[in-house]
Amino acid sequence: MPGKNFYITTPIYYVNDVPHIGHAYTTIAADVMARYKRMCGFDVMFATGTDEHGQKIQQAADRKGMTAQELVDSVVVNFRNLWEVLRITNTDFIRTTEPRHARVVQYIFQRLMDQGDIYKGSYEGWYCVPCETYFPESQVGDGKLCPDCGRPLQNMTEESYFFRMSRYEKPLLDHYEKNRDAILPHSRYNEVLSFIKGGLRDQSISRTSVTWGIPLPGDERHVIYVWFDALINYLTVCGYPEKEDLVGKFWPTVNHIMAKDIIRFHCIVWPAMLLALGLNPPATVFSHGWWTVEGDKMSKSRGNVVDPFEMTDLYGVDAFRYFLMREIPFGLDGDFSERALVGRVNSDLANDQGNLLNRTLQMIENFTGGAVPSGQGTPGELDGMIRDMTLATLGSYRAKMDVYAFDEALKDVWTLIKRANKYIDETMPWKLGKEGNLERLGPVLFTLCEVLRFTAAMTSPFMPGTARKIFDQTGIPGDPAELLLDELEWGGATAERRVSKKDVLFPRIDLKVWEKQKAERDAGKTAGPDPGDHEPEVTIEDFRKIELRVAQVLKVEPVPKSDKLYRIDLDLGYERRTIVSGIREFRSPEELEGRKIIVICNLKPASLRGVVSNGMLLAAETADGKSLALLTVDSDIALGSRVH
Ligand code: MSP
Repeated sequence: MPGKNFYITTPIYYVNDVPHIGHAYTTIAADVMARYKRMCGFDVMFATGTDEHGQKIQQAADRKGMTAQELVDSVVVNFRNLWEVLRITNTDFIRTTEPRHARVVQYIFQRLMDQGDIYKGSYEGWYCVPCETYFPESQVGDGKLCPDCGRPLQNMTEESYFFRMSRYEKPLLDHYEKNRDAILPHSRYNEVLSFIKGGLRDQSISRTSVTWGIPLPGDERHVIYVWFDALINYLTVCGYPEKEDLVGKFWPTVNHIMAKDIIRFHCIVWPAMLLALGLNPPATVFSHGWWTVEGDKMSKSRGNVVDPFEMTDLYGVDAFRYFLMREIPFGLDGDFSERALVGRVNSDLANDQGNLLNRTLQMIENFTGGAVPSGQGTPGELDGMIRDMTLATLGSYRAKMDVYAFDEALKDVWTLIKRANKYIDETMPWKLGKEGNLERLGPVLFTLCEVLRFTAAMTSPFMPGTARKIFDQTGIPGDPAELLLDELEWGGATAERRVSKKDVLFPRIDLKVWEKQKAERDAGKTAGPDPGDHEPEVTIEDFRKIELRVAQVLKVEPVPKSDKLYRIDLDLGYERRTIVSGIREFRSPEELEGRKIIVICNLKPASLRGVVSNGMLLAAETADGKSLALLTVDSDIALGSRVH
């Protein structure tokens, strides 16, 4: 079909971490759209992949004692596997370390350089290493802390190549004036526009301080900045610049999906780069919301990172996909809770959808020997109403899917499913069966099978496995994913078919059992450090500068006007000294007095609430800061002994 092409992308994910529910969310949403568009007759190109360059990856590799290439090769597997488990139908998976990508990045750099859109300059600013971003003086405050992650910034000056983004301020504004749906939801459109109106600055697009990246053509002291490199992936997938037909076919249709954290790159930097290349900016950038977990930001140190592999093991792929798409409006923030997921499995899936299928199959088995009735007989008023509602639902579903209103589309389908369950209660087919009233029973069971067929088709982009099972159990050959929605007609299913009842789609989850199992799982989970919580590498010489010794606690007293502090007198064997320590909420004086502990002896003295502290004791603390264990020695040793 000419012109029915569709290109959809996810961000390419950083590989310094394992994939979590946030990555799964974006990719599932893109997959739902890709599957839906295929059912609308579109030729779909669907790309996802991994962003493998940059300082963060290099640092993560250093910490693990691997080369960056080894690290990315090992982590990328997690992403590939997850997409397979989640039944993602991407047509390409791009890694920025692939030669096909480096070639395109270097080509684009050279071309923009030749046409005067890139120039060499120098960059001075406050740089956040973990975020790999420079911040202007106006954003960093007196503490010189990163406005995004709150960590200390470094003042750096670097020779750098710049992309002349300022040149594209006006063309971008013109573009967005004419294309008001280019950024969705519209609230984000306004946000981006006011940012552009505030004035665009040229972008630094190279680094001399980083080695893990694509070398800059003609000046190999530089590597290309990770974001300039990463954005270009979307063109690499299209075969730019050589495959002009593919670029011509798909590029004008591109839809980028991501969370709101990275829309400025996608709605400003990237479109400006595309304008400079003479290409159209993305047709749509859809920015969805941010998931928190049980009310908290997800992080390793909180130990609350939701592992999609675990969720699919526990609840099944389709239930997980359905929950993510149904629970929050696409575009708004949401909170993930397993309890809510279980709630939806029990109500929407087991109760509504599962029951509709089971009741229908059971009655067909009981009363027509497993053969799906043809629909001939005495029509009832309600049959026509259900038919009209089904067709209307297909229409509203499509209108909502077209604008990424996934939750709304599902709501419509569930209104129909619930109505069909009510229709069973109203028409009482079991009574018709017992009375032998096949004239009425036929149309009723036929109507129910049609609702099942339509709802399976509509839910297929969300729950491909379940939709197929519904087809299978109601005797329809093939996969609903291969249907064309345009061809979906009431009464259009294979004439003679038989049902075959199999396992229920979604067994009900017993809440009491679930609660017990969840508590056991939670107890077994440990919190780990976030990638940014690690300190930079130190040498053995650095470590030796810290003088650690064994000391005995002589006396412990609360520091006046403080809830947390103790004044602790210590015996180091060769001398006595006083330290102040904030462990009052964890230990009583009796628990401390007499114990042998480890102390840093050469720490610069500090006065805390008027008491001078000459050192610091060592203790391990849990990530949530709620408990603590003192470091001590495991056998008797002379006081003052050095700890290495
Ligand atoms: N590598 C860049 C993107 C380059 S695209 C040219 C990057 N990677 S990332 O691994 O940090 O992924 C960010 C994206 O992951 C978000 O935009 C979003 O799509 C998804 N999410 C990560 N955490 C998320 C939540 N907590 N909630 C929702 N989506 C989340 O940025």
